[in-house]
Amino acid sequence: MKLVPKSRSVSSANGAGALQELKKPAARSRTIRVDFKDVVEPRESFMDKFVIRGGNPLVGSIRVSGAKNAALPAMAAAILTDEPVTLENIPDVRDIQTERNLLVSMGAEVELGYGRAHHRTTICCNNLVNPEAAYELVKTMRASTLVLGPLVARMGRARVSQPGGCAIGARPIDLHIKGLETLGAKITQEHGYIEASADRLRGGHIVFDKITVTGTEDLMMAATLAEGETVMENCAREPEVSDLAALLNKMGARVEGAGTSTIRIQGVGKLHGARHRIIPDRIEAGTFVIAGALTCGDLTVANCEPNHLGALLQKLEECGVQLQTSGDSVRVTGNGQLFASDVSTEEYPGFPTDMQAQYMALATQAEGTSTITENIFENRFMHAQELVRMGASIRVEGSRAVVRGKTSLSSAAVQCSDLRASASLVIAALMADGETILDRVYHIDRGYERIEEKLRSVGAQIKRIGEMLPKRAAAPVSVA
Ligand code: EPU
Repeated sequence: MKLVPKSRSVSSANGAGALQELKKPAARSRTIRVDFKDVVEPRESFMDKFVIRGGNPLVGSIRVSGAKNAALPAMAAAILTDEPVTLENIPDVRDIQTERNLLVSMGAEVELGYGRAHHRTTICCNNLVNPEAAYELVKTMRASTLVLGPLVARMGRARVSQPGGCAIGARPIDLHIKGLETLGAKITQEHGYIEASADRLRGGHIVFDKITVTGTEDLMMAATLAEGETVMENCAREPEVSDLAALLNKMGARVEGAGTSTIRIQGVGKLHGARHRIIPDRIEAGTFVIAGALTCGDLTVANCEPNHLGALLQKLEECGVQLQTSGDSVRVTGNGQLFASDVSTEEYPGFPTDMQAQYMALATQAEGTSTITENIFENRFMHAQELVRMGASIRVEGSRAVVRGKTSLSSAAVQCSDLRASASLVIAALMADGETILDRVYHIDRGYERIEEKLRSVGAQIKRIGEMLPKRAAAPVSVA
């Protein structure tokens, strides 16, 4: 690590700083150039833990960051043009740092805003020399495959590592590959890499066998520069897909129908630079709403888009959570009276799989039996066992988890297994009796910006500890 200006400390607050080398900004400059550094996971953040003392109600106002899952495809979209793309409201989380690193490794110039422009990133891909996403980067973040479509479309070739499995399921990318082939790309798979090439992609008719969010985004980006019209059916309707379409249209693309299951794209010869503000993170917002309800707090979740939270807010009201929504905020007040309600995860606008783990924490405090069915990923109940160790009554049967409430939770040493599972354990710890130690918080740093600082500002007792961990602290038990 060379020079990290203090006021732009990417590093210490979320323990993720060694990822990129940042040069000191020139005098009066409001940007920092990102250099590639061949370090993917900083050693120290592996050691980070949270110590959380439960029992405090969350009171006050908490601000939601930009959506990680909208920012990732938006950054990949910058590959489609040789002009700068400026993105506002980019969250300062590890997955974003990984993607910046990936773009820089290909030859992109990436600048971060400085000071008050902290959440701005400008990406210029006028000199992409290396259209490759290496295994070292892709293995830490599957969304790296989002560069596949834009690279073939603009550069005529791409070499992207196959992602492999991950903690929540197999997560194949066959639909991205099939779609690119429909658009005329020649694809080979060798040595763990996908190689795609095409002189120029041509429009085609893609019908997704299964709804895929990043698959829809990847192919939508590829089709913007294809010759002729592309029609995509059975598309994902997530707000992040619509946000990407809005950016692409600002760049000169002709995309219609994003947010519905049929998207039509008229290919154009060239795209240009643009400026775009990323939508608020609906999953971070939902996580805070549940935390507010469970701690019997009075919490205003600000800077969010309540319209993107429909299925979740409806379910929480069924459980007895008191909610008031306004233009860009949700106020939640909890009185400790919650009722069980069943949930099935579905594609948007259904109940999001990314909120399933947090909802399970809530279900442990609801009177009665809640059945939670996970329909999107095959292995997304890793948090259940940890919640049981804290005193919850949960039985997992295949894709269903049966939660019996209400059970009091007590502190324990627990391990984060993936991003949303970690959020569920943080929520459980906030209402547990005693001091919980959460290990492997690098999972939460992938998608929540300085969560401990945000929660502390509304009354939570939460502290990050790193290598200075006192020897007497409880060591987390490994539960493979
Ligand atoms: N699928 C296939 N083949 C494909 C692509 C997907 O079979 O080629 C399957 C998957 O295995 C899964 C289902 O389709 O069973 C849906 O997967 P999808 O492709 O929609 O997931 P994703 O695009 O890889 C995004 C989010 C996830 C979120 C899911 C579902 C990003 C960067 N990631 O993943 O976010 O859970 O959609 O909504 O947008 C998170 O933020 O914690 C996270 C995991």
